[in-house]
Amino acid sequence: MSSPNPTTTCLPASGSNVHKVELPENALVLAPTRQLQSLLTIIRDEKTQRGDFVFTSDRIIRLLVEEGLNHLPVISKKVTTPTGKVYDGVAFQGRICGVSIMRAGEAMEAGLRDCCRSVRIGKILIQRDEETYQPKLFYAKLPDDIANRYVLLLDPMLATGGSCIKAIEVLLEHGVEEEKILFLNLIASPEGIQKVCTRFPKLRIITAWVDEGLDSNSYIVPGLGDFGDRYFL
Ligand code: URA
Repeated sequence: MSSPNPTTTCLPASGSNVHKVELPENALVLAPTRQLQSLLTIIRDEKTQRGDFVFTSDRIIRLLVEEGLNHLPVISKKVTTPTGKVYDGVAFQGRICGVSIMRAGEAMEAGLRDCCRSVRIGKILIQRDEETYQPKLFYAKLPDDIANRYVLLLDPMLATGGSCIKAIEVLLEHGVEEEKILFLNLIASPEGIQKVCTRFPKLRIITAWVDEGLDSNSYIVPGLGDFGDRYFL
C-alpha cells in the first residue's frame, strides 16, 4: 500500500493561518478561502520571483476590486434579453474613481481598470517629513469632480495607518464624503485597521488579510516585505 503523500494533505479552508482579531464594523476581510490563502502564500514567499509576484498579486487585487464594487449603490434596471424576456436587474448608480497612494498603490490601478474600463484614476504621494517624522503630502493629482464620485482608495499594505489617514484627509479636503470612500488593501495590520476605522467610522476598508502586527521597522509581520520593491523592481 502506498503511504499518503504529505504534500497533498487537505487543509481546512480556514486553518491556523487565520488570525482572529476583533474588527471594527467598517472593516471587511475577504473570505479566507483556500484559493486566497494559496495566492497569499505565493506572494509572501521570499523565494517568489517578480513575474509570479506580479501575476499573483494581480489576482488578489482583482478579488478586492470585485468585492469593492459590491459595496456601491445600485438602482433597478429592466432589460430585454435576446429571448424576448424581461430580466429584472440592477445597474450601478453614481460615478467612481480610483486614487492610488504612490508608489505601491499604483500596482492596483490595472486591476481597477480591468473591471471599470475608462475609470478616472488620481494619485497621492505621501512621505515622512524628515523633521517632524509625520506623514506629509508631497503631490496630489485628483479628478476635478472628485467630490461627486465614490473613491476607491488603493494601497496594498496598511501598516501604521499614517499615510492612509493622510490620504483620506486629502480626499475629504477635496470635498469627498467619508462614506463614499472605499479603501482597498491586500494585507493590513490590526493596529492600522483600528486607527483608520476609528478615525473615519463612515469609510469602509476592504482587505484580503489581517496579519499579526508590526515589527520595530513598522513592517507588517509575517507580511511580505516591501510590496513596491517586489512588484516594481
Ligand atoms: N509597506 C510595505 O510594503 N510592507 C510593509 O510591511 C509595510 C508597509
